[in-house]
Amino acid sequence: MKIAIIGSGNVGGALAQGWLRAGHQVVIGAKFPLSEKNQHLATLIGKDKFMGLKEAVQTSEVVLIATPPTAIFDVIAEMGELAGKVIIDATNAVRQKPLPYDTVYHALVDKTPAQVVKCFNTTGFENMLNPTYGELKIDLFMAGDSEEAKKVALQLALDAGFGACMDFGKGDKVVLQEQFALSWINLAIMQGHGRNMAFKVVWR
Ligand SMILES: NC(=O)c1ccc[n+]([C@@H]2O[C@H](COP(=O)([O-])OP(=O)(O)OC[C@H]3O[C@@H](n4cnc5c(N)ncnc54)[C@H](OP(=O)(O)O)[C@@H]3O)[C@@H](O)[C@H]2O)c1
Repeated sequence: MKIAIIGSGNVGGALAQGWLRAGHQVVIGAKFPLSEKNQHLATLIGKDKFMGLKEAVQTSEVVLIATPPTAIFDVIAEMGELAGKVIIDATNAVRQKPLPYDTVYHALVDKTPAQVVKCFNTTGFENMLNPTYGELKIDLFMAGDSEEAKKVALQLALDAGFGACMDFGKGDKVVLQEQFALSWINLAIMQGHGRNMAFKVVWR
């Protein structure tokens, strides 16, 4: 797939590496493509992957949003035409909402014609770099109203090395999925269990 990553920090950088390893065409869209902050990632994935935000989005089928939640209005204004594109929202607005919306997902659904899904938000970026724990591959979760966007998110989760991407429900479950992310943050950081922990769903 042709993927544009908006936000090349912890999350965007980790997923760029995983998706490139899986053979996807990944570009990073940024206001300042080869800024000081992007130099390390550029040495890992190549300077040629960095370009302006609009160019990255317009040359891609799928867009990952991995910015602070409140940046979404700037990002929407800069992305250009979005009809026919899938947008994956990896942000968590648990501390800072993109008002008047509860989440970036809701802002994207209201303000763009894209197919939107919330995914890649429920675990730490270290787990996105390496989703393998011994024999186990950890799981992701996805929520939203677009079945088309969910198919893409599922494939990209598997391609990044996750074991599964469980359907958390439709758009009315997006806030719950962000609360689920907060549960990981609570356990890993506030309760001190460390960031090298992850969720895996088991059945019998
Ligand atoms: N960290 C995690 O483990 C984790 C896990 C799951 C979900 N999340 C969520 O993922 C999102 C990103 O987290 P992160 O840790 O990757 O953050 P980060 O390392 O701070 O990276 C944020 C990126 O967003 C870019 N950005 C900021 N404002 C922008 C704008 N107006 N237009 C375009 N790009 C902009 C930044 O560019 P500059 O550096 O140039 O400012 C930077 O590349 C957050 O919403 C977070 O809640 C994080």
